[in-house]
Amino acid sequence: MPGAIYAEGLVKTFGDVRALDGVDLDVPEGTVLGLLGPNGAGKTTAVRCLTTLLTPDSGKAVVAGIDVLKHPNEVRRSIGLSGQFAAVDEYLTGRENLQMVGQLYQMRAKEAKLRAVELLERFHLTDAADRPSKTYSGGMRRRLDLAAALVVSPPVMFMDEPTTGLDPRNRQQLWEVIQELVAGGTTLLLTTQYLEEADHLAHDICVVDHGRVIARGTSDQLKAQTGGERVEVVVHEREHIDPAAEVLRGFGKGEVTAESHTRRLTVPVSGGAKLLAEVIRELDARGIEIDDIGLRRPTLDDVFISLTGHVAEEAGEAGQDEQEAAA
Ligand SMILES: Nc1ncnc2c1ncn2[C@@H]1O[C@H](COP(=O)(O)OP(=O)(O)OP(=O)(O)O)[C@@H](O)[C@H]1O
Ligand SMILES: [Mg+2]
Repeated sequence: MPGAIYAEGLVKTFGDVRALDGVDLDVPEGTVLGLLGPNGAGKTTAVRCLTTLLTPDSGKAVVAGIDVLKHPNEVRRSIGLSGQFAAVDEYLTGRENLQMVGQLYQMRAKEAKLRAVELLERFHLTDAADRPSKTYSGGMRRRLDLAAALVVSPPVMFMDEPTTGLDPRNRQQLWEVIQELVAGGTTLLLTTQYLEEADHLAHDICVVDHGRVIARGTSDQLKAQTGGERVEVVVHEREHIDPAAEVLRGFGKGEVTAESHTRRLTVPVSGGAKLLAEVIRELDARGIEIDDIGLRRPTLDDVFISLTGHVAEEAGEAGQDEQEAAA
C-alpha cells in the first residue's frame, strides 16, 4: 500500500531545466521524510508538485490517499504547507494572519481565535501578536508562517526549509513541535539544509541532485554506505608517522592514509571503542607519542559531500538568487 505521500516518476521541466527528472517517493504514514540536496536540486519543485502548486509534466502523485493531479482541491484540504518563503500577509497582525487561516479552513470565529492564541503562545509571538507582521524580524515571520501551517492539524504536512533563519533556541523548539506532531500521527515531508536536522527528525532520507533521487535510506544506512568508522591519530612528531602507520595497518580494515603536515593518520576499522583502546596501548608500547586520537563515524555531512560532491549550503532567503546565479 502506498504511503501517505507517494510519488512515481515525477518530471517537471522549466524550459531547458529538468527540475525533476523522474522522482519516486514513498513516505509511510506517521513518519518523517527528509529531502536533502544542494541548491537547485529540485526540492522545492518536488514540494510544489506534491502540494498542487505546480503541475508536473508527467508522473503520479498521491497524498493522503488522494490523487494530486485529479483532485487538487481535496488534497489542499488534507495538507499543511510551510514554504521556503514565508507566506504571511504583511499588513495583517500575527493574530489576524492566524485567525484568517482558521476561517479559510471553515473554523468558527471563536475556535479560530482560540487556536490563534494557542499558536502565538507556542511560537513565542504573544508579545508581538497585535503588530502588523511587516514589523516582524525574519525569524518571527518564519515562526508565524509555521504557526499558520499548523492552524488546522492536517494529516500530511510539507515543510520546505522550516528552520532556515531561526536561531538555535527557536530551531530546537520547532523540532519539539515537529516531534509532537509526528507522535500524534502526522506524516511529514521536510526539506532542510541542516543535515543535523534531518539526522534528528527524519526516519528516512532521500538525497536529490539534478532532479533525481541519488540515495535513500535511514541516516545510519547512508552513513554506513559512506564507509563506516575509522580511527584518526595525530602523532606528536613527524618521525612517528611511519611507525604509527605500521601499528594502524595491523588494526585497520583498509588502507592507512597519512598527512605529513598535520601528522594525522586515518584508517578504516571495525570494532569500536575496544579496538581504539588496543590501538592506544600499542602506540604507547612502541613509544609513539600522540596529540590526539579518536574514533570517527561519518556524519550526515560526510554522506552529503561524498554523494553530491559539495557541502550543504545554507540557502538564506536573500541568498537564493545569488546562489542560483553562481551555480
Ligand atoms: N519557476 C521556475 N522557473 C524556472 N526555473 C525554475 C523555476 N523553479 C525552479 N526552477 C529551476 O529548477 C531547478 C530546481 O529548483 P528548486 O527550487 O526546486 O531547487 P531546491 O532544491 O529547492 O534549491 P534550494 O536549496 O536553493 O532551495 C533550479 O535549477 C531552478 O532554477
Ligand atoms: Mg528550495
